[in-house]
Amino acid sequence: MAFTFNFDIPLQTEETNDKENKDGNGKDVDLKCSDTSATEQTKTKNAIEHEPLLDPLSHIENWVPETITVGALPPLLCLNESVFEKTAHEREDSEEILAKTLNQNSDLITGVYEGGLKIWECTYDLLEYIDDEGETFTGKRVLDLGCGAGLLGILALKRGAIKVDFQDYNSTVIEQLTVPNVFLNCEDDDDDDDDEETGEKNSSPPSKRKALNTSHKLLDHCGFFSGDWNSFLTLMQNKPSSPKYDIIFTSETIYNRDYYSSLHSVFCGLLAENGIVYLATKSHYFGVGGGLHLFKKFVEQNEVFQIKYLKDVEQGLKRHVVSLTFKK
Ligand SMILES: C[S@@+](CC[C@H](N)C(=O)[O-])C[C@H]1O[C@@H](n2cnc3c(N)ncnc32)[C@H](O)[C@@H]1O
Repeated sequence: MAFTFNFDIPLQTEETNDKENKDGNGKDVDLKCSDTSATEQTKTKNAIEHEPLLDPLSHIENWVPETITVGALPPLLCLNESVFEKTAHEREDSEEILAKTLNQNSDLITGVYEGGLKIWECTYDLLEYIDDEGETFTGKRVLDLGCGAGLLGILALKRGAIKVDFQDYNSTVIEQLTVPNVFLNCEDDDDDDDDEETGEKNSSPPSKRKALNTSHKLLDHCGFFSGDWNSFLTLMQNKPSSPKYDIIFTSETIYNRDYYSSLHSVFCGLLAENGIVYLATKSHYFGVGGGLHLFKKFVEQNEVFQIKYLKDVEQGLKRHVVSLTFKK
């Protein structure tokens, strides 16, 4: 059974609704930066930090790696999504999101599963934008927010970011897709390693070798988190040292306006003073109601960030890449 985008129907209107940011009495809802509860009616999932397994690929049967190549960017490896459909019944899935998405034939179950098991098309738009503009990552701290497969963070990692944190709503996504994908790409980079002490070429198969190693160069620079954005923000702010991010990537995360407040709070709380948020999105998400127009309005009402359009894609549903930076 194929996963479907049940809110992603191929019609395009710029429909907007002025009721969107009003409460039940038609008054404007308070949209202040630190307020994360006024418009939130969503279920929550407590944020946790995940320790990656030594060899996260070893417990995944029949995995099929796919290579994603965008322009001159380094090829990115990731697990093919079909493996989740084929092996749902035999996987560890304490959240039961694999069974539920298959049963309901849906890519999104609000508050239960937020769509991270597949790669959404705006991720490719953002990768293309990075390829065109040559964003540098060396020495930067990066957050891939609502990461799903984690391709944006993985690119930053491969391109010299000093720290990349990956966040997804679902722990199953982090454990079964994001971590294995990061691992796959680390493996790729570490394959060239010779034995540093003897200078000999390492001839063991990569996955076996990795199982024996206790650390990987790139993995040492990563953090993995699941949970909703409110509790993720609290978790990060309670860390003893929590330097802020130079870059926050977030792709296809503004489909539900109930989440705008918590998403905005994460930007406010975790972006460095001179940092930048790259947000890739469709114009409008049919069936869910969110989209760029509403989110832009929300951001403008809060008066914390300025939004800049960086790239528009006109094929099919209109898509955009925009940046958010703190107002000076
Ligand atoms: C449609 S998926 C997009 C996945 C990936 N960024 C991509 O472009 O392929 C939306 C992502 O946003 C995250 N997300 C959505 N709402 C969230 C919330 N309220 N709290 C935490 N994460 C959320 C989920 O983790 C999910 O992976």
